[in-house]
Amino acid sequence: MLITMKSILKLAEARKIAAGAFNITSLEGIQAVLGAAEEAGQPVILQFAPVHETIIPLSVIGPIMVMMAENAAVPVAVHLDHGDDFKVLKQALDMGFTSVMYDGSALPFEENTAGTKIAVELAGAYGASVEGEIGAMGREEFLSVGEGEGNEASESCYTDPDQAETFVAATGIDALACSFGTVHGLYLKKPNLDLERISRIRKKVDLPIVMHGGSGISDEDFRQCINRGVRKINYYTYLAKAGGMFVKEKSAKADDIIFYHDVTMWGVEAMKKDVLHTIRVFSGIEQKEG
Ligand code: 13P
Repeated sequence: MLITMKSILKLAEARKIAAGAFNITSLEGIQAVLGAAEEAGQPVILQFAPVHETIIPLSVIGPIMVMMAENAAVPVAVHLDHGDDFKVLKQALDMGFTSVMYDGSALPFEENTAGTKIAVELAGAYGASVEGEIGAMGREEFLSVGEGEGNEASESCYTDPDQAETFVAATGIDALACSFGTVHGLYLKKPNLDLERISRIRKKVDLPIVMHGGSGISDEDFRQCINRGVRKINYYTYLAKAGGMFVKEKSAKADDIIFYHDVTMWGVEAMKKDVLHTIRVFSGIEQKEG
């Protein structure tokens, strides 16, 4: 069932859990995420980031995400992640996305606020939700896996609670992405989360907080963040890694021909397992996994 992100986050708030928001770069990714959400019986968010346009274009995968969300047995929101171009926001909304993120975090505060207000107006015409961002989680996003100097969040980019309050009041967004120590991609050092900052932001802002850069965060840190008000967690790098590493392992063991459909099936199996564990942690329904 396709619903808005606002409705999913309302469900999450009522249950004091976080909804998993998984980036999609293939049909197998959609199958894995929806398969896991249905098995766990939990709502989920499928999202597409324009930085992945070179892997698969939004015009190809977007309508498939919407169609599969409509047919899913659990509530699903379809969201545009890190949109910074109004043409792309409109493209996603026109194909039935129920939520968009306007990411003006690289802009001066006033420009970010003005752009986010336009996004809220635009999405409102479609009955869709909007996520805004104050602070930064690394501009290069998750294409830059393993590259760079040392993937660490800089405290100067952390979200300022007072600025967040002004931003939310001025824009009318439905969810706020905040920076408190997570970054996109692989961590080269253990992330040092400023958990207290989440509580300080929540005191000022009565909105669901969004965590970006969910890969590489421990289950215990996820629980702490959720206890303090994180209601949406973005996650991609580790599910892509799980799929890729399983294909590598299976390929190394195969002593004969590998068919391409074997590769896609291994990918779905491994990504689904990773996403299922993640959804269980986010929704507090952990089980012993064999
Ligand atoms: P990871 O790269 O840590 O999985 O984060 C994905 C993300 O935050 C997408 O916005």
